[in-house]
Parts: sequence; structure tokens; C-alpha cells
Amino acid sequence: MSESAERLLNASDNENDQALDLALRPKSIKEYVGQGDIKESLSILIEAARKRKEPIDHLLLYGPPGLGKTTLAGVIAHETGASLSTTSGPAIERAGDLASILTNLGPNDVLFIDEIHRLPKTVEEILYPAMEDRKIDIILGKGPGARSVRLDLESFTIIGATTKIGALSSPLRDRFGATYQLAYYTDPEMEKIVKRSAKILGVKADAAAAKTLATRSRRTPRVANRLLKRARDWAETRGTGNITTDAAEASLKLEGVDELGLDAVDRRLLETIITKFKGGPVGLGTLAAATSEETEAIEDVYEPYLIQLGFLERTPRGRKATDAAYEHLGKQPPAGKQKLL
Ligand SMILES: Nc1ncnc2c1ncn2[C@@H]1O[C@H](COP(=O)(O)OP(=O)(O)OP(=O)(O)O)[C@@H](O)[C@H]1O
Ligand SMILES: [Mg+2]
Repeated sequence: MSESAERLLNASDNENDQALDLALRPKSIKEYVGQGDIKESLSILIEAARKRKEPIDHLLLYGPPGLGKTTLAGVIAHETGASLSTTSGPAIERAGDLASILTNLGPNDVLFIDEIHRLPKTVEEILYPAMEDRKIDIILGKGPGARSVRLDLESFTIIGATTKIGALSSPLRDRFGATYQLAYYTDPEMEKIVKRSAKILGVKADAAAAKTLATRSRRTPRVANRLLKRARDWAETRGTGNITTDAAEASLKLEGVDELGLDAVDRRLLETIITKFKGGPVGLGTLAAATSEETEAIEDVYEPYLIQLGFLERTPRGRKATDAAYEHLGKQPPAGKQKLL
């Protein structure tokens, strides 16, 4: 992934930042801001399972990066009192790796599988009976003497997370008892997150400054935390130590974030579609080549927010810039594309 996408995705630029990120991560459902419908549905699920003394159903979380999937998995484990093991699709290369993870789970444990759409096919097939019947078949020995042995597993819960629900095979998708799509956060929710994080970081942020940071964070908590940390750096080195509106504005400018939260790459994507491809439609691969960004970064990181803002449209023939995108970049939409009054 390109450096710019990596930066947008990862809040942590160094070790100190990583420690801060851990502190900023909500642990309980009460601390977890927003996603009201999901929290309500989860509370019911957790309470019902507790009453029946059963583990909760397997759950699938999906949505763009940084909206709180990993955090939510931790919250669920915390609320059910379960112990949480974490792995990811690309980390499990062989069926045997997953078999040993599964056989080591205790009763009611939660196994979090991040980027579950990237599980190799042979590994995925082990998961089917494991999720459905809590059993796995393993092959002992090799060649003609090899035999298959069926092992019983404890009553565990899988929580899968993905940014690409469409890349999940339907047999896998069907084995989850509930699927939750995380939504972009509203401005008031973002403000709450910025204020909460400022408190944990021990920095004072003016109400107006918190609002500024909140509205320019792509409605994404991870981005808000990153911008807040940079504003704090600015305040402590160039300002009064408190995050004032001036401090917030100055650090946002340094980060290349504009008044709608778009950064240089977002603007370059729109600019390229408009100037090189007459507003589109242009295919994803062509757009990636023309902007030197990776298709995956465009699809997972940039595009969802541009679509959400109504600046970009996905059509069967490719990506198109909308009139609103022309306006945001201070350009005149081509005749014929202009809205008729
Ligand atoms: N609902 C929330 N309330 C407060 N803070 C949140 C919330 N959701 C996420 N955060 C903050 O945003 C950061 C990023 O969230 P998280 O790592 O859970 O995102 P993710 O969806 O797993 O992203 P990715 O797809 O990249 O793995 C967390 O460290 C946490 O501090
Ligand atoms: Mg995650």
C-alpha cells in the first residue's frame, strides 16, 4: 500500500503513538461512541446468551478502515467476560495453523479474525464445520496410510472483520449468526470522540477546536485520533499548550487536510478524473496508474469517503466525478453536465 494510504490507515507513526492508541481504544460498550443500532442489537445478543449460559453467535463486522471493527471485537469480549485471541486472514497460511488455534480455544473464548476475506481457501474450509458443528477434521499421516480424525472443539465464538464484504465467499458469510455494517460517524459523535481522546491524552482542546478537528476527520475515529495528536504536537511546540482553533487550523494545514477533511490524495484523485478523463467514467486500474496510487488503497481508503460526500460515483463503466466535486475544487462542471435549473 502507498505511503500516504498507510499514513491515513495507521494512527501510529512511532512507538509512543502506538502506546497512546492503546489508551485511546474504548474497552466497554459504554465508552464506545456511536453505532447505536449495533450496540443495541449486541446488548440483546449478549444478554440473551448470558441468560442461556451459551456463547454468543459468530459475528461478522464490516466497514471502511478505522471505523472501529477491531475495537468493537474487544468490547464484545470484554462485555461477555470472554478471553480474546486475535489473528488475521493473511497470517493463517495453512489449514494446520488454524486447526491448532481452534483446538487451543477454551470454553466461550472469542477468536477475532481480522481481514477474514483474505483467508486462504483451504483454511476457510476448516472453518465451515468448526463454526457450524464445533468440529474439525484433521488428516494424520501421509500417503495411503493417512487417515482423517474428527476433533471436538469448545463452544467458542468467531468474530470476523472485513473491509470487503463482497470478497467473502457465501458459505463463509452464511455461517455468521449476525452481520453488522459499521457506519460513518455523525459530526456530534465525532466531536464526542475528539473530546474523549483529548481527555485521555491530557490536553485541553477548546470546544470550537474540537469541533474543527471532528468535522475534518473523514467521519472516522482513527483519523480523528491522528489529527488530534498532531494538533497536540503543534500546540505544545508552536502554541500555548492548549489546542485552540488556531492550533487546530495550523496543524490541519500542515497535514494537508482541507475544510471537508480531504487530503492531498483525495484531491489528486478528483483532479485527475476531472482534468485527465473529462470527469469520467474512468476504470479503477487506469485511475490508479494515472495517480500512482494502488487500486486497493483507492477502493478501501479514499473512495468510500468521496462517495459518502457525494463527490464520486461508481458506475459500471468506472468512476465519475460529480458536479459537487467540480465545485469543491473550484472548477466549472462541463456544459451538459451542469444541472439544468
Ligand atoms: N466507537 C468508537 N468510539 C471511540 N473511539 C473509537 C471508536 N471506534 C474506533 N475508535 C478509535 O479509532 C481507532 C481505530 O479503530 P479500529 O482499529 O477498531 O478500526 P478498524 O475498523 O478495526 O480498522 P481496520 O479496518 O483498519 O482494521 C481505535 O484505536 C479507537 O481509538
Ligand atoms: Mg482493525
